[in-house]
This record gives sequence, structure tokens and C-alpha cells, in this order.
Amino acid sequence: MELAEHGTAPWWQQAVTYQVYIRSFADGNGDGTGDLAGLRSRLGYLRDLGVDALWINPWYRSPLHDGGYDVADYRDIGELYGTLDEAQLLIDEAHALGLRVLADLVPNHTSNEHAWFRDALAAGSGAPARSRYLFRPGAADGEAPPNNWRSVFGGPAWSRTDDGEWYLHLFDVTQPDLDWDNPEVRDEFLDVLRFWFDRGIDGFRVDVAHSLAKDPELPDVDPDAQAITSGNDGSHPFWDRDELHDIVRDWRRLADGYDGDKVLVAEAWVAPDRLPNYIAPDQYHQSFNFDFLTAPWDATARRAVIDRSIGLMHEVGSVPTWVLSNHDVIRQATRFALRGADDPIRLLADGIPGDVDLRLGLRRARAGALLMLALPGSVYLYQGEELGLPEVHDLPEEVLDDPIWTRSGHTIRGRDGCRVPMPWSRTGPSFGFGSGPGWLPQPEAFGDLSVEAQAGVEGSTLELYRSAIAVRSTRLADSLDFEWVDSDADVLAFRRGGLLNITNLGREPVDLPTGELVLASAPIVDGRLAGDTSAWVEQR
Ligand code: BGC
Repeated sequence: MELAEHGTAPWWQQAVTYQVYIRSFADGNGDGTGDLAGLRSRLGYLRDLGVDALWINPWYRSPLHDGGYDVADYRDIGELYGTLDEAQLLIDEAHALGLRVLADLVPNHTSNEHAWFRDALAAGSGAPARSRYLFRPGAADGEAPPNNWRSVFGGPAWSRTDDGEWYLHLFDVTQPDLDWDNPEVRDEFLDVLRFWFDRGIDGFRVDVAHSLAKDPELPDVDPDAQAITSGNDGSHPFWDRDELHDIVRDWRRLADGYDGDKVLVAEAWVAPDRLPNYIAPDQYHQSFNFDFLTAPWDATARRAVIDRSIGLMHEVGSVPTWVLSNHDVIRQATRFALRGADDPIRLLADGIPGDVDLRLGLRRARAGALLMLALPGSVYLYQGEELGLPEVHDLPEEVLDDPIWTRSGHTIRGRDGCRVPMPWSRTGPSFGFGSGPGWLPQPEAFGDLSVEAQAGVEGSTLELYRSAIAVRSTRLADSLDFEWVDSDADVLAFRRGGLLNITNLGREPVDLPTGELVLASAPIVDGRLAGDTSAWVEQR
């Protein structure tokens, strides 16, 4: 297996980055919403977990119609989260602890409360202020949307203004799409990047990185090819178009002008063989590996994804990333429990069937973590996975906040179940999240899964993650070596840095190879590695 040379490797190449969903991480002022004060008070926890960096979901001023992915001001912090001064303190304190900080850039759309969109509405049809967005006359004498594009969240992707013009929103009606052909838009975002780089931000995760360019003719799209994952050859009218790469080149030039290895990470839901187009010395440094995230719990499928990921990134002189969850998908402790259902996007729609075996899900999630943390490249963790949190699939309907819930006419519950506030202590009104209840209710089971309940407890999921991250950074982070080892069909085994990682994705136990056991996701009995278990073995 070939991997790019790493030589004087940049910090992110084998980093473990921890995703902080700020709204649900820690509430410092007791108002039920996570905030910068809470995050600052928990930085020690992240240092002790051993991660290298944080990626913080959008923290900007926002009416929160899509959890902050509707930005009203890219240069200010949302008032529920704190102030710009506190953001600066957070960046400085994180740096003092050796943690880098990535922010979230949302370039496809603004909030409808952004000054630009307000100006556009006020200016009226044909005004230059409208050319920052995609306003168009309707079809059928203005009565119908300009084309058949659908919003990712359900319903048409066009809404009509009071004066009769329509505007495009690939997401919620409160998230108007920007027109990236307008140079003003390009300049504005370069300035936003500059604003945060100047404050010490180490990089950006770029939201829906594959959506920025639209076919200028705005043609109808094949109705069966509207999903966010539909881009596969550059010809789709709004996903993964080739023109978008020029935009990224401007950002990269700017990032490269700063010291300290600023990093740009693409969130691009594209076909795996399109992903290398995003990774280049003049484009993104990295892209999330959703191929790995969406792979079923199956050795053949996962081996193929690992080979493909390493191979494709090698072609463009880079290394892969690995991710098992984020704030948009069903948590893996639940996902891996679902029998025969392997499409998390569809599961977000249908809810969780009653026959899930959550013990099996957690067992697999722990094994999956050991497998992932042994792989060469960088790893992205989502807050709470280190506690083995399950998806909260039964939130009461009246608290559901995801715009998918309303836009689907209350048929699709959406993504709130993976965004429930973190449990820090066994007891308390929100299990230590804050001094009162959190913005989403936590299930009783969160007490026993809390940080307090797991810290220092041998065999807990939290301690498994801590140990694995520690071994990874001391033993695996200096080299990209990777070599498959022959194994049974249901088993994945590979060697790295003198360690053998062996994961049994089947049900029958297999012999554990000889060597000293370093870590295991479940007890090793009589030298046998049980099903749904992963282990690291030292082999000299
Ligand atoms: C984010 C989502 C968000 C969407 C629109 C994404 O892919 O991760 O949470 O709803 O972009 O901004």
C-alpha cells in the first residue's frame, strides 16, 4: 500500500481533530445553550483526551434556523455563545494547551437576516444588491419556480419574494444561496478568512464545499438526482461542478500566506473518485472521508474503502482522513446496531426501528474506533462518540429543531438526535452540561454514560479512546507505513509502526495473533478475539 511521503509533515497530516458542536458541548451561563464560556472550562478535558485540534461548528451571529449554518454576520459571535473577546480567549487558551482551533466557513449561503440579503430584498428586482444572490423571475408568468430544483431539506429550492421575484436556497428558505460569480462575494469571503486567520484560527472546515458553482443557465435537473450526494462527473447543475475549484484556489493562496500551516478541510459529499479533485497543493488540504463513514459494518466493504481512500489520496500526493460520525448523521453506537440497514441518510428520515441491539452497536462502535485510530492519516471525532453516546431517537416532537422536520411536513425527524447536550456528570438537571436543563432533553441513560461515570474507569469507552489516542500519537503519528496482513474473510488486520491492528467484524471468535496485547475494545478470553472486537498487538 503506497502513501505519500510525509517528510516534514504538517501538523494536520496525522492529527486527531475533535468536533465541538458548541450549542451542545458545555453551557457556561445556565441558559440551556452551550457557549464559549462552557467550552473554555472544558479545554482541559480535550487536552487530557489527547486530541490535537478542535473544529467548532458555526459560532457566528445567527437566528439558528439551521443550527448556525445560517450566518447573519461572519465577523461576530452569536450572542448565545458569547463575544468576540471570548472567542479570542478561547483561541489563545487552546493554543496554550497545544490545541489548534478550526472554525466552520459557510460560503454557499447566508442567513436571510444577513445585511446583504436584507439589502437585496429592500432594493427590489434588478438592483445590484440582488446580484450577490440568485434572484430570478419565475416560470409560468412568474407563478412557478424558475426550475425544478429541490431543497436538500425538502420542498422547492426557490421561494418567492413579495415583489414576485424568486431566490434560490438549496437548504432552508432562511438560507439564500450566494452567487459566486459575483466578485464582491469572492472578495467578502477572502476578507472573512483574513479576519479569523488574523485572530489565530488555524483553519476552516468548509461547509457544503461541492455546492458553490451553479450552471449559469439554471437548467432543470434529473428529478432523481437531486440528493446532496448526486454530483459524480462535474456536469450536475449544482453539485460538484468543476468551476468551483477556482474559488478554492483563492482561499488557499490566502491561507498559504500565513505562518503556521493553516488548513482547509472540505465537506464534499461527492463520489469517492471525485474527491481527489478537491485535494491539491493549490486547493484543500483535506476532505472528510464519507465513504468510510457510510460503509457498512462488514470487513469486505471496509477493506475496499480503506484501500480506495489510501489509493485515491496517494494519487494526489496526500493522505486520507477517517471519520465515523458528525452532527448530520446517526451516531455510530446506534447506526452499527441497526440490522441490515446501512444507509444513515435514509435512517435519519425513517427513525430508528424498535429492534435495535444497542449493546451490539456500542461494541461495534468501540471496535470501529480502534480500527479508525490505527489507520494512517488524520481522524475526525465527533463530541460524545468517546462516551459511546447513542442517537436519541425518541426526542419529543415539540422539541425538534432541525429544519428538515418542518420542511418535510413533519415526516422526517432530522438530525437533532445526535445533537443532544453532552453529559458531564452522573446527576444534575442536565448531567453537568449546565446549571439548568439543556436546549434538548437528555435521556436518563446519559448519566451512566457521562464523563464523570467513565473517567478513570478501566474498560470504559472514554478510557479506551484516551488510551488509543495516546498510543496513536506516540507510536503511529510519525510514520505513514501501512501493510495488510492475511486474515479470515471477516477480519481486517494490518501492521503499522510495530503494532498489529486486528478487527473481527464477524460473529465467530478468531485466534489473536501472538504478541503483547496493547489495547482491546472488549475482553480477550483464552487468547481469542471475539466477534465485533478490535485489538492492537505489539509485534517486535
Ligand atoms: C452541514 C449541515 C447544514 C448544511 C447547510 C451541511 O452539510 O453540516 O449541518 O445543515 O450544510 O449548511
